[in-house]
Amino acid sequence: MQRTLVLLKPDCVQRRLMGKIIGRFEDKGLRIAAMKMLQVTPELSRQHYAEHVEKPFYPSLESFITSAPVVAMAIDGLEAIQVVRDILGATSGLKAAAGTIRGDYSSSRQMNLVHASDSEASATRELELYFNAEEFCDYEEATVAFLRADDE
Ligand code: CMP
Repeated sequence: MQRTLVLLKPDCVQRRLMGKIIGRFEDKGLRIAAMKMLQVTPELSRQHYAEHVEKPFYPSLESFITSAPVVAMAIDGLEAIQVVRDILGATSGLKAAAGTIRGDYSSSRQMNLVHASDSEASATRELELYFNAEEFCDYEEATVAFLRADDE
């Protein structure tokens, strides 16, 4: 079982796509362990996107990610990190396959609606940036017996 950080970005909130996007993760059988809306500050943006801070597109990315609230989610599931990345599709909405969130709803490299952690190390680091330990809800889903076999 893995846990990953998902952010519904300002374009997702402003375009009123939150419900549809959250539904994609629910429909897949993933479990939402934590969720909250917050305003990303420039400092949090620099921490989150530390690997991009020196890149030419970073000022524009910071301006975008701080322009409206985001929704941060912790999502659990078998191989959740890769499964969620596959549901999102390629970074650019212009390159993302049809059927993925970005392929279906985005035509942009920057305004690609959703962020998700790309590795276990990133997930651990990013979850700590957005959530305290007590914010994760540990509950048994009523549907789990019909989502996968016991030995999966
Ligand atoms: P995300 O998955 O959140 O990770 C980094 C983000 O930077 C990415 O989604 C895009 O929103 C943005 N991004 C990546 N590459 C570029 C680029 N070349 N120009 C502008 N924004 C980019």
